[in-house]
Amino acid sequence: MDQLVAESTPLKRTMRTFDLTMLGIGAIIGTGIFVLTGKGALTAGPALSVSFLLAAVCCGFAGLCYAEFAAMAPVSGSAYSYAYLAFGELIAFVIGWDLILEYALQAATVSAGWSGYFNKLLEGFGLHLPVELTAAYGTNPDVTTYFNLPGFVIVLIITWVLSIGINQTKRTNDVMVLIKLAIIVLFIACAVWYVKPSNWQPFSPYGVYTFQPGSTQPYGIVPAASIVFFSFIGFDAVSSSAEETINPNKTLPRGILLSLAVSTVLYIVMTMIMTGVVPYQDFAKYIDAPVAGVILETGMNWLAVIVNLGALIGMTTVMLVQLYGQSRICYAMSRDGLFPKFFGHVHEKYRTPFKGTWFFGLLTAFAGGFININVLFELVNIGTLSAFIIVSAGILWMRKTQPNAPRGFRAPGVPVTPILAIVFCFVLIAGLNWETWVRFAIWFGLGLIVYFGYSRKRSKLGLEQKAGADTKVAATED
Ligand code: ALA
Repeated sequence: MDQLVAESTPLKRTMRTFDLTMLGIGAIIGTGIFVLTGKGALTAGPALSVSFLLAAVCCGFAGLCYAEFAAMAPVSGSAYSYAYLAFGELIAFVIGWDLILEYALQAATVSAGWSGYFNKLLEGFGLHLPVELTAAYGTNPDVTTYFNLPGFVIVLIITWVLSIGINQTKRTNDVMVLIKLAIIVLFIACAVWYVKPSNWQPFSPYGVYTFQPGSTQPYGIVPAASIVFFSFIGFDAVSSSAEETINPNKTLPRGILLSLAVSTVLYIVMTMIMTGVVPYQDFAKYIDAPVAGVILETGMNWLAVIVNLGALIGMTTVMLVQLYGQSRICYAMSRDGLFPKFFGHVHEKYRTPFKGTWFFGLLTAFAGGFININVLFELVNIGTLSAFIIVSAGILWMRKTQPNAPRGFRAPGVPVTPILAIVFCFVLIAGLNWETWVRFAIWFGLGLIVYFGYSRKRSKLGLEQKAGADTKVAATED
C-alpha cells in the first residue's frame, strides 16, 4: 500500500464533496435512463421502478466498499489499484482487463444511444439521415441498418478533444451536469400531469423472473434490474479523482453515496412517470429514444427539442468521463508493465497519453458503429458487476489481512455489506442473457492468455521482485 501511495503523482487538490457529487452525476446519468428504460419497461412493465431500486441497492452496497478502498488508498486507478492492493497482480490485471469492457464498451453503448436522440433532434427540424446509417446492424428488427454514423463521429470528436488535452474543467462539468438535472426536473414537472394510473395496472406483469414462450430472454423485475444497472455505472469514476480531492477520506465516500442517492431518486420518479404516461407495451415503438417517445405522446413538441438537446449533452459528458478513464487505466497498467509501452506514451506537446487515447477512441468508435447496443450494454454490465464482486471481496480480505491499516472511512456493517454486494451482483448477473455469460467468459479467457503470454514476464513489480531475489541468491553464493 505504501508503494502504491508513494508512486502516486502529486496533483493539485481542489475537489470538494459538491464537485465530486457533480462528477459522479455527470458520469452516471446518461444512456441508461434516456435509452435503456424502453427495453427495461418491456421487460418488467411498470415495476421498472422496482428494478431501478434493486440495481441501486446493489450499487449502494458496492459503493460503500469502493468508498472504503478509495479512502484507504487515495490513488487514481480505481478498482484496478484496489485489486492490486488486496490481491496482487493477477487479479489486478483481470480487473484492468475487465475495466476495458466497462469503460470502452460503455462509451460505445452511450454513442449508440446518443445517435437515437441526435436523429430525433434532426427530425424535429425536418431533417432525416438515411436510416441504414443511423444504427448498428441488427439493432432494429423492422429496418435493415448497417452503421451508426452519428455515434461514430461523436466518439472521434471526443477522442480528439481528450487527445489534445482539453480536459473537461470542473466548471464545464458542473454546468453540463446542471443542465442535465434541470432538463430531467423539467421533464418530470411537465409530464407528471399526463400520468394515467390505469397504465400502472398490472404493475408487475412478468413477476420477478420468468421466460416467455419461444424467447431465450428472461423477463421480470430482476432481468430489468440487470438491464438498468447500466444507469448507475459511473459512480466509481468518483474514486479515480482521489488524488485531486481535499480531505479524500471524508469527501470521497460522501461524493460516491450522494451521487448515487440523487440519481436513484430521479430515476425512480422518472420511470414511474414514463410508465404512467405510456402503456409499457408501447415502448416497443420508442425503443431508441423512450423519453422522447413519452413527450411525443403528451403532444408537448416544444419540450421535445429541449429534452433531446439535454439528453445529448448528458450523454456527451458520460462519454468524456469514460474515454478519459479508459486511457488513464491503460496508462497505469502500462506504467506497471502489464500493457505495452505504447499505452503509456505521453505526447510531448499535449502531455496526454496520446496513442492510447486514440487506440481506444477508434476501438470505441468502431464498436459503437457496428455492434448492436443490446450486446454492448450487457457486456458492460457483466464486466462491471464482476469488478464490483472483486472490490467487495477485496474489502473482506483486507479487513482480515490488514485489520489495523488506517481507514479514513469504514464501510458500515462489514462483513454483511460486502457479502450482500456480492450476492446482489450475482443476482443481477443471473438476470442477463446466457449469451452474455459466454461472451464474457471468452473475453476473460483472452485476458488470461495476454497476462500469461505477455504481462507476467514484463510486470515491473515482478521484475523488481526477481531482481531482489537474484541479488539475495548472489549474496548467499558469495
Ligand atoms: N450510467 C451511464 C449511463 O447511463 C453509463 O449512460
